Amino acid sequence: MVANFSGLLAIATIAIASVAAQAPTSNLLNGACVTNYDASVDYFPQKLNTAEDKATFFTIEYHNNYKTVINHRSGVSYTLVQCGTPAPANADNSTRVREIPVTKVAAMETTAVPYLELLGVGNSIKLIADGSLISSSCFQKYLASGDITQLSATNETLQAQQIAAIQVQFGTNPYEPYDTNSSVSTSSAYEPDVLGRASWISYYAAFYNMEATANELSQKMIDNYNRLKTAASGYSKKPVVAWTEYDAPSQYNNNTGSYNLKNDSFKVGLTNDAGAAMVNTEKATYKTSAELLAALTNVDILIDETYIGPEMKDFMKNYGLSEADQSKYKFLANKKVFREDGIMTESGGYDWFEAPVAMADALLEDMINVVNKDAPSSQFNRNWLRNIATAESIKYTTVNNCTWTENAPRPDMATEFNGGAFTLADDSSSSAATITRTNIMAIVVSIASFIYLA
Ligand SMILES: *[C@@H]1O[C@H](CO)[C@@H](O)[C@H](O)[C@H]1NC(C)=O
Ligand SMILES: *[C@@H]1O[C@H](CO)[C@@H](O)[C@H](O)[C@H]1NC(C)=O
Ligand SMILES: *[C@@H]1O[C@H](CO)[C@@H](O)[C@H](O)[C@H]1NC(C)=O
Ligand SMILES: *[C@@H]1O[C@H](CO)[C@@H](O)[C@H](O)[C@H]1NC(C)=O
Ligand SMILES: *[C@@H]1O[C@H](CO)[C@@H](O)[C@H](O)[C@H]1NC(C)=O
Ligand SMILES: *[C@@H]1O[C@H](CO)[C@@H](O)[C@H](O)[C@H]1NC(C)=O
Repeated sequence: MVANFSGLLAIATIAIASVAAQAPTSNLLNGACVTNYDASVDYFPQKLNTAEDKATFFTIEYHNNYKTVINHRSGVSYTLVQCGTPAPANADNSTRVREIPVTKVAAMETTAVPYLELLGVGNSIKLIADGSLISSSCFQKYLASGDITQLSATNETLQAQQIAAIQVQFGTNPYEPYDTNSSVSTSSAYEPDVLGRASWISYYAAFYNMEATANELSQKMIDNYNRLKTAASGYSKKPVVAWTEYDAPSQYNNNTGSYNLKNDSFKVGLTNDAGAAMVNTEKATYKTSAELLAALTNVDILIDETYIGPEMKDFMKNYGLSEADQSKYKFLANKKVFREDGIMTESGGYDWFEAPVAMADALLEDMINVVNKDAPSSQFNRNWLRNIATAESIKYTTVNNCTWTENAPRPDMATEFNGGAFTLADDSSSSAATITRTNIMAIVVSIASFIYLA
């Protein structure tokens, strides 16, 4: 959270102590409206714990019967008023008033789905923009047989009726007219930090009065992420990673293709936290593949983000590589070429834009394994980052893969990590001192989380 809400932070931290006793037992029970409004009552005993929160694009401010949730990226603020209590008279007209807790929502963007599933309110989604793109297998099952409608793409009258039947729309309706009456903008994809992206669970939770659940999930995820990061931090020689993309000539780039090194902040963070280093180059955009490849001679691991071309032969062709280059580039010689399409829907939806955004620790596990095949464990199976150099196959999600239900919390895909420092097989110089320090740090983290839970 933005740090200058220090007063708020104090309130949130004190509130943490009392939430355990009041934690809800069933997700939608928080829906009861207030019948005898009393201005002196704090209707939001559950408050966001901002202590370790890495989100930079939203804040939540608490008042007795309403909260102000601000999306700092879209610049829109929402006044969330507890059902059965009056909206604040002095709310300025730039804030959009929504009644909470919500029980019927629309997911206009795929990214909303995993956050709501982690909270256990996947079944509050009653309207969906394009269900075929959602890769969550249990959401697919819910879509096939549950109480949910697909947004009409063509009939505006019907669309207006569908939207009138829900309370908020998370994300932007892909069709016009854009309805500001119920829309709620989301910006998790723009967060610069891997954990910051996952923090958006609290933004969603605020609409359900489920901050206590979000705090608990976030803390577990942060602690697990930090233990994994610590365990991966001691490699004496950090493998070099490049995230690249071939942007083929098209109407969108004046028919001028380019080869790009991706440098998004969360990718830099993810790479470093997995014990590797980002390739260091002078520029990010190259006119020819030869120019790009010349900058990649010391790259151990390549992650190809090219939209089209899922297999190794496509990759070789897109980047102008031939068999003769196999020994020239370490990422080819070592068979370390990955794509983000490990889990997909049959109609082409990438889970990469869904579950791993909300599950930071699970994403870090994948990246740790890309860097070190024996970590976080030698039996580890990556979810999203697929090695095309070893011809790993895409795992498609269908209703048959469903192992939870949309009316109960979806489990985080990460495994709780409690081990010691990882060692890289070809990193024989990893020193004992590093391992000891790492273990001590892991112990400190465990003690800290023990105190937190106590
Ligand atoms: C909000 O209030 C300001 C100042 O009172 C006014 O200028 C503006 O037009 C109002 N905006 C809307 C959308 O009503
Ligand atoms: C559009 O939806 C409305 C409301 O459901 C319906 O009455 C109308 O027949 C639909 N129009 C078309 C062209 O399907
Ligand atoms: C938004 O709400 C206002 C006031 O209730 C209403 O007049 C307007 O038609 C609504 N807009 C849409 C797009 O539903
Ligand atoms: C395409 O070319 C036109 C005319 O030179 C230019 O204005 C435009 O910015 C270019 N677009 C891109 C995406 O390069
Ligand atoms: C990548 O971003 C970092 C800052 O985050 C910057 O120092 C570096 O120059 C960038 N590299 C490229 C190739 O753009
Ligand atoms: C779903 O189950 C099928 C059949 O067991 C399997 O082949 C596929 O990889 C699974 N998909 C995922 C995403 O795990």
